[in-house]
Amino acid sequence: MSSRERDPDLAALVKKIALERRFGFDSYKESCLKRRVAVRMRACGVGSYDEYAELLDRNNAEYEELLATLTINVTKFYRNKETWDAISRVVLPDLWQRRSGNVRCWSAGCASGEEPYTLAMLILERARKTGETPLARVDATDYDRRSLDRALAGEYGDAAFEELPGDLLRRYFTADSPKSVVPAIRTIVRFRRHDIIQEPAPNPPYDLIVCRNVLIYFDRKTQQRLVARFTDSLDPGGYLVLGRAETLFGESRDRLRLVDARERIYSRL
Ligand SMILES: C[S@@+](CC[C@H](N)C(=O)[O-])C[C@H]1O[C@@H](n2cnc3c(N)ncnc32)[C@H](O)[C@@H]1O
Repeated sequence: MSSRERDPDLAALVKKIALERRFGFDSYKESCLKRRVAVRMRACGVGSYDEYAELLDRNNAEYEELLATLTINVTKFYRNKETWDAISRVVLPDLWQRRSGNVRCWSAGCASGEEPYTLAMLILERARKTGETPLARVDATDYDRRSLDRALAGEYGDAAFEELPGDLLRRYFTADSPKSVVPAIRTIVRFRRHDIIQEPAPNPPYDLIVCRNVLIYFDRKTQQRLVARFTDSLDPGGYLVLGRAETLFGESRDRLRLVDARERIYSRL
């Protein structure tokens, strides 16, 4: 939806954010934006978008809070177990055969790092099975600076591990509390701030792109444009993993082979 079709007061707020923070919430679904802005407005006790815009001018901490609320950065290690099981069972063995462990991956919208670190663990698990040294690289990107700071710190409280199998927890984290990611995992993952709407892919071509629970916040046209960009950024035979929350439409369908319908895993033709 373009800003012209939006509620004009909300559109004015979105424009203000774009000008001042260079972030294009224009591509986000209106319902999603409205809900999130309402949460912050309620928390601040203001009743109109105008009043809220004035508050943002005076209060930088609230501005940061709003950006964090709008970008929605909930995540966990091994989130949606079935998707990771499919990556271990189908995607990594195939890539391993073709690339001898030298796999190039991108976790787009990585939040506080649980997703790319999970991928790095599965890569090391594969290497343990085959006895090869993994030369893999995982580029991990997000727009939200605070999430990236947490990712770089690599320390997590118990809630982050609820879905992680116990053997992975023991092998890839320190025993203390909060637990830290071990160096073998950290060296595989490179974090970087990146806006998937406005910037090209960081380091193509890739063998595997994981972008889960991110596209759902964008309007359909933006989703199509991003999937086309992901497809362009894959080597032939490379995989795109969107996960259960997403649906694939648009011209990219013709350039992708469906690998797993439930987990929305595709490979580039
Ligand atoms: C719900 S989290 C998903 C985290 C992880 N992929 C997962 O599935 O657990 C959505 C992430 O998308 C990021 N995001 C939203 N818009 C973005 C954009 N335009 N560019 C880069 N990241 C963005 C948010 O900052 C947030 O960390």
